[in-house]
Amino acid sequence: MSKEPWLLRLTWCLTGLSLFVSLAPCGLGMEITAQTTISALNGSSVRLPCTFNSCYKVENKLFSLNWTYQECENCSEELFLQFRMKIVHWRLDRFGNRVEFTGNPSKNDVSFTLHQVQLEDEGTYNCYVMNPPDRHRGHARIFLKVITEVPPERDSTVAVIVGASVGGFLAVVILVLVIVKCVRRKKQQKLNTDDQKTEEEGKTDGEGNPEEGTK
Ligand SMILES: *[C@@H]1O[C@H](CO)[C@@H](O)[C@H](O)[C@H]1NC(C)=O
Ligand SMILES: *[C@@H]1O[C@H](CO)[C@@H](O)[C@H](O)[C@H]1NC(C)=O
Ligand SMILES: *[C@@H]1O[C@H](CO)[C@@H](O)[C@H](O)[C@H]1NC(C)=O
Repeated sequence: MSKEPWLLRLTWCLTGLSLFVSLAPCGLGMEITAQTTISALNGSSVRLPCTFNSCYKVENKLFSLNWTYQECENCSEELFLQFRMKIVHWRLDRFGNRVEFTGNPSKNDVSFTLHQVQLEDEGTYNCYVMNPPDRHRGHARIFLKVITEVPPERDSTVAVIVGASVGGFLAVVILVLVIVKCVRRKKQQKLNTDDQKTEEEGKTDGEGNPEEGTK
């Protein structure tokens, strides 16, 4: 009789716990993830990723996104991409029409792609997201570094070569050691058997030939 209420209580407890665990992240509000530094080759296209977590489905009427650019740490932020009911481009002279929205707000992705990257595009890109009824505003910062040539892959190749040669050298050393040991052992065995033989020979010879026995 007392077993059933106990089981029931345990079930309620577990249900509550799982509910709490599944709902807990919502209490923390928006969470936004983006890489902090991205390198792009001069003249190439680069996608600046920004994704967010939210407990609520994105509703176009409420959802708000701002992408801003900051040339330096203390420079003012320049708004160039926004979501207000739909994507709105703010044509900045510096970017012309090189900004393309490549995210999908309903999939919590508000990334954009910058085409024909120029050296002057280097700087900080801020991604702000608000998804009511979530009250918190998400903010991610990406630093875009523009490089003029592909960093040489030599380092890794050299590492591979060094690693391979060190590994090969070690393998050869081990092989040589093993062979030397084997040969020695064989020699030893041969010596032993020779000794035995000579001993035996000496024994057999010892009877008739005492000179051999002293050897
Ligand atoms: C960057 O790329 C453009 C066109 O691809 C080229 O004209 C320019 O010289 C490049 N700048 C540097 C510093 O490599
Ligand atoms: C930014 O401005 C603050 C004061 O407003 C100043 O102390 C700081 O040195 C500035 N930083 C840069 C990188 O200019
Ligand atoms: C975006 O900027 C507008 C003002 O231009 C502001 O009203 C809105 O709250 C901002 N949204 C976010 C997510 O920062």
